[in-house]
Amino acid sequence: MPTPTSDSVNRRKFLQFLAASPLFAYAGAGGVALASRSRAWSAENLAPPGALLPSAADAFNVFDLEAVARTKIPVAHLAYLDTGVEGDVTVRANREGFAKIQLRPRRLVDTTRLDTSVKLFDTTWPTPIIIAPVASHCAFHDDGELAVARAARARNHLQCLSTWCTTSVEDVTSARGAPVWFQLYATTQWEITRALVQRAEAAGCPVVALTIDNPTNIGRETLERGKRRDPRDCTECHSPRAGGIFKRKSMFEGLDVSGLVGPLTPHLTWDFVKRLQDTTKMKVVLKGIVTAEDATLALQHQVAGIVVSNHGGRGEESGRSTIESLPEVVAAVGGKIPVLVDGGFRRGTDIFKALALGANAVCVGRPYIWGLGAYGQPGVERCLEILTVELEVAMRHMGTPTLASITRSSVQRA
Ligand SMILES: Cc1cc2nc3c(=O)[nH]c(=O)nc-3n(C[C@H](O)[C@H](O)[C@H](O)COP(=O)(O)O)c2cc1C
Repeated sequence: MPTPTSDSVNRRKFLQFLAASPLFAYAGAGGVALASRSRAWSAENLAPPGALLPSAADAFNVFDLEAVARTKIPVAHLAYLDTGVEGDVTVRANREGFAKIQLRPRRLVDTTRLDTSVKLFDTTWPTPIIIAPVASHCAFHDDGELAVARAARARNHLQCLSTWCTTSVEDVTSARGAPVWFQLYATTQWEITRALVQRAEAAGCPVVALTIDNPTNIGRETLERGKRRDPRDCTECHSPRAGGIFKRKSMFEGLDVSGLVGPLTPHLTWDFVKRLQDTTKMKVVLKGIVTAEDATLALQHQVAGIVVSNHGGRGEESGRSTIESLPEVVAAVGGKIPVLVDGGFRRGTDIFKALALGANAVCVGRPYIWGLGAYGQPGVERCLEILTVELEVAMRHMGTPTLASITRSSVQRA
């Protein structure tokens, strides 16, 4: 019998991993992509088997963290993380958009020292990479938002906390050791919305990011498929009779939520933006702008900043990536207020492309949740470290030692 080579041992371990993986129990958006990708080994397209990555430090890129997270997060929660709407076309478009933009490297520029700092309102951050608001971190790891806050503190990133968090803004701020931004889902009841805003302001949040892209969340087919595959009894957290969707939502503790249906806001108009501005001293940023027309209206309504976002492809099934929406928003804003962007950022080069197209900073969602689900706080830290190092590598190749030196001339349409 031939002695097994290290290649054949690794291959056997890999096949064992695949057989045990929830990838084969659930074929959600990411699951399908990962499973089909696994047939063709390539540097980006196939994450190595999670079983062979004993620690966060072993991850080369954020897809490695994804592979491990897929072995640990329960299938329904994985589907919640993956899901877009309908055919998940916009989830894919967010990634595909980056392939339509190429980089134009410049040579013989001294990039020994890099400066990635960026000023957003009154605070200068060492990095333009921001932790996007993602609901219910405890669905992905028991340490939830606290692990994310500690990672943000360790690496000094700006964190934006979801209204739909499973740990309160006070506890997260304390773990972060500095104020966080608060993302607001306006509810259908003004009194409750105002209470959320006042609580965030009292906790020291300098900025409230009002999410405006969720008039409905009907059509999350990938989520619904994943829920059907999950054999666990989910009554405790999800049944209306057991306290319903607000049960583990810390920001709603003590509030009368009996008339609330969830974070859906088909009734929101620009009047609400004004009402919010009149209610709080926090800077009001709009999250979910994707057109020049709305960016112009945002300026007219004196909003403090914009996040170009399609909710990670979970809102409308537009089929349009945020990296392709960004230039028209940047042009309409004309540098008057900060423009942030999120959606599909997985590589430092993706971040570089957004900065070149005029974004002041970039928010990441699913990648840090992969890190959280895979390893807890060390996984989130590794995610942030990977993206930071990759951005720095891109800046060196492009001959751009500062964020200000990254301009449109650094990129071209493919
Ligand atoms: C599981 C999940 C939960 C989310 N929860 C919220 C939320 O509570 N509030 C919000 O404004 N956006 C939420 N988002 C959207 C993110 O803030 C962000 O726009 C998106 O994740 C960016 O795309 P990416 O995941 O491809 O990086 C969520 C996204 C995901 C994947």
